[in-house]
Amino acid sequence: MQRVYLDSNATTPMLPEVFEAMRPFYFDEFGNASSIHHHGQHARAAVERARESVARLLGCRAAEIVFTSGGTEADNLAIFGLANSGDHVITSQVEHHAVLNACKRLEQRGVEVTYLPVDRQALVDPEDVRKALRPNTKLISIMTANNETGVVEPIEEIGCVASEADVYFHTDAVQAAGKIPIDVKKMGCDLLSISGHKFHGPQGMGALYVRRGTLIDPLFYGGNHERQRRAGNENLPGIIGLGRAAEIAMGGFDDGSLKRIQKMRDRLEATLLQQIDAAGVNSGAAKRVPNTSNIFFDHIEGEAMVIALDLKGLAVSTGAACSSGAIEPSHVLTAMGLPPERARASIRFSIGKHNTEADIDFALSVIPQTVARLRELSPTYASA
Ligand SMILES: Cc1ncc(COP(=O)(O)O)c(C=O)c1O
Repeated sequence: MQRVYLDSNATTPMLPEVFEAMRPFYFDEFGNASSIHHHGQHARAAVERARESVARLLGCRAAEIVFTSGGTEADNLAIFGLANSGDHVITSQVEHHAVLNACKRLEQRGVEVTYLPVDRQALVDPEDVRKALRPNTKLISIMTANNETGVVEPIEEIGCVASEADVYFHTDAVQAAGKIPIDVKKMGCDLLSISGHKFHGPQGMGALYVRRGTLIDPLFYGGNHERQRRAGNENLPGIIGLGRAAEIAMGGFDDGSLKRIQKMRDRLEATLLQQIDAAGVNSGAAKRVPNTSNIFFDHIEGEAMVIALDLKGLAVSTGAACSSGAIEPSHVLTAMGLPPERARASIRFSIGKHNTEADIDFALSVIPQTVARLRELSPTYASA
């Protein structure tokens, strides 16, 4: 059975070049980077080379990179590393749960949190950030690109608000790294999270950029690894893989691979909208990362659509989450003002480097008929 994977915002397949770079570090080059003998020195040198590659992707110094176990840990390190009881934090209603649930936990610890609303494109208004500032505001955390719709937030403007107010600014760039150029100086952020498995690197591997001079409390206590910002022996193969994936991602800005991805995304979107009525693109009027398309097909249930497409060999996703037996509509789509039925009728397509035009042809051959069949079963479509 043919299987096509259009769910790269969930995770991407690791590139063979990334795995080949990692392979020796599982076997012959296995040293502990803190050991002073030959094996340790070799591992340390490799870790520092990978740190430089990641720093190049973000436009920062190598010493400003802290390796973590992924985007979730990077977000948590930024948030818990800075905010303490009595502080105020500003975030948005459309953040990933790695930020939202960390902020909820902060509230239980005596931190005040403002969850800013967004407009119909899921954009945060930098003026709202400014208005939300208080004398005790310690941190602003607004994502660079949204994982569900791909919308790119006005990060540079928010960075200006943060620097004028002398407040720390963290951005979750997990869905932006490797898809749009990142330059921490231009963005004006003090902290920025990335995750390897969203750009064809290893799962369970990420990094936090921490601007020089920003003092953060660690999440873990132990040895003095990562300049005392993240205790625990380094995930050597993971770090090597992240470094290699960062190098390849940098290449994507010049080698045409991102343009190719955007062309496939745009063709998928345009053809679906042409062939299917009562459908539209969420965040379609705003700047988005090139690989993501979130489309509502009114009168269908997204979960049923994901299952029906999976049975035909196409992997996509909804932003919906199943909590306590009920399908909750996505918090991102509802914050944008979509009614719950439309939020539940939305599907996310996300393209990766592994995808080809033939994959898009396959998707286009199965999606319209699946929507039509699900709508035949829908009581609301018949009466519409
Ligand atoms: C925007 C965003 N932030 C954070 C995360 C968490 O990253 P990780 O899976 O590396 O923990 C994700 C993963 O889906 C994400 O999309």
